[in-house]
Amino acid sequence: MKILALAGSMRTDSFNRKLLAIAVAIAEREGATVDRADPRVLDIPLYDGDVEAASGPPAAALALAARVAAADALLIASPEYNYSVPGVLKNAIDQLSRVKPMPLRGKRALLLSASLSLVGGNRGLWALRVPLEALGVHVSPDMFSLASAHEAMADGAVKDPLLAKLLDGMVVRWVAETKKLLAGS
Ligand code: FNR
Repeated sequence: MKILALAGSMRTDSFNRKLLAIAVAIAEREGATVDRADPRVLDIPLYDGDVEAASGPPAAALALAARVAAADALLIASPEYNYSVPGVLKNAIDQLSRVKPMPLRGKRALLLSASLSLVGGNRGLWALRVPLEALGVHVSPDMFSLASAHEAMADGAVKDPLLAKLLDGMVVRWVAETKKLLAGS
């Protein structure tokens, strides 16, 4: 099982990047191969129909599309911005949706979030489900949202043992289910 791990924040000290790293380590422990997308992978020009008509999708979008196409599944950790999807991530999805063949169709996805608030960015994940599902991604019903991320993480780990166990179990289950589905397809 090949996973592309993607964070919805390009910030160096991003809590979502830290949360993603924890989930990636769990997935690798469970035998998955992970392509860790660099933080700047979302640095794709804003979608512009005139540019597309003149020269097709930008090189950065094609490069990300190739990595998505090579993966069976996506592990995404994203903050919520104003209760919704950060613009860089939505733009990347819009750009990917214009690449042919469209690389997102049929991929499995697990969504995670971390935020400073008590809701943990969960509203943003519900918003993120919409374009992903519209594009044919099978988004796991399970989602993990870490509240008060600035207090909840230390030394690259989730401090609360119960929450850490919840995240571990969720990733383990998702990897096992995805492997089973891939074996049957
Ligand atoms: C935020 N933040 C935020 N937090 C939240 O819980 N709900 C929200 O709606 C928003 N909205 C929002 C909008 C914008 C434009 C910014 C820059 C930030 C705060 C956010 O949770 C915080 O900045 C996180 O640290 C962002 O995630 P990373 O970069 O640490 O992964």
